[in-house]
Amino acid sequence: MFGRKLILFGGKGGVGKTTLSSSLALLLSKRGRRVLLISTDPAHSLSDLFGARGRGVIEVSEWLHILEIDPQEAVREHIKKVLESLESLLSPDVFSQIKEVFHSVEETPGAEESAIIERLSSLILERIEDYDHFVVDTAPTGHTLQMLKTVGRVGSWIEELLRKRKNAHRFWEAGGSPREDRTLKLLEERRKRFAKFSGLILSPRTTFVPVLNPERLPIEETHRLVENLGKMGMGIELLIVNKVLPEGKEGLFLHMRKEQEKEYMREIEERFRDFRKIYIPLRERDISSLEDLQELSLELGRRMGI
Ligand SMILES: Nc1ncnc2c1ncn2[C@@H]1O[C@H](COP(=O)(O)OP(=O)(O)O)[C@@H](O)[C@H]1O
Ligand SMILES: [Mg+2]
Repeated sequence: MFGRKLILFGGKGGVGKTTLSSSLALLLSKRGRRVLLISTDPAHSLSDLFGARGRGVIEVSEWLHILEIDPQEAVREHIKKVLESLESLLSPDVFSQIKEVFHSVEETPGAEESAIIERLSSLILERIEDYDHFVVDTAPTGHTLQMLKTVGRVGSWIEELLRKRKNAHRFWEAGGSPREDRTLKLLEERRKRFAKFSGLILSPRTTFVPVLNPERLPIEETHRLVENLGKMGMGIELLIVNKVLPEGKEGLFLHMRKEQEKEYMREIEERFRDFRKIYIPLRERDISSLEDLQELSLELGRRMGI
């Protein structure tokens, strides 16, 4: 983990992504690493968990900073930027039509994911030297995959625009009116940024940590996630199986749950046999304060051996 610049957590809702990404971020910061913990889940809980309030990057300690990205705000920002880059490319008529279309795009599925990746990529690349680790608590599985695939898609979309822009530029030059081309520069910058970011995502400096519980639906969802990540060429160093029923507890109810869990645990061993796994027991109480988090992060550290 210490060698990873970007650590992305993913999994089904409720399995413990926020809890465990926060625990790992805290753990790494206690080991003297500079960590930025970022949440891209619209259902934010980082600030509650850390008892911190504010906008933008919040300093929980010298070593640990947190940031919640608001997906809707990200969409508005994203559209503004895209429009800016298109303005000089199109005639005023077409531009004003396109502007309307873009504003209706705000509600479209997928808009949030591409806006988030836009923010995430600029933020991380701009501050790459400021932190040893960027730990990202992502939204549930489907969104995360869509978000990561967006990096590729937006890339090719920009390529296409760039090509058109270059042709137009050449045409103007031929017509004897050379002009400073801001749009071209903007597009070029974005293309470079996306290429760099997808390079980072697919390199060994990035790892994806799937989180699941020993239950049917999380197992299935994680299986699909792992397959898809594999196809995309993303690395997985570790799988965290969370909320494992504790040993040595009495009672028929728990006994019955434990019996079912044994089957799921066997299944997890088998279906994810290629991956290193660590198991975190279900605790008596939920994790809702910095103290709880500190305890859990120590446990995580012991089980990960860091
Ligand atoms: N090992 C655990 N023991 C007890 N409660 C847990 C454990 N892990 C997570 N929780 C609780 O489960 C709930 C969901 O966890 P959360 O991290 O918010 O999931 P996600 O971010 O994946 O939706 C929270 O109330 C959290 O405190
Ligand atoms: Mg969460």
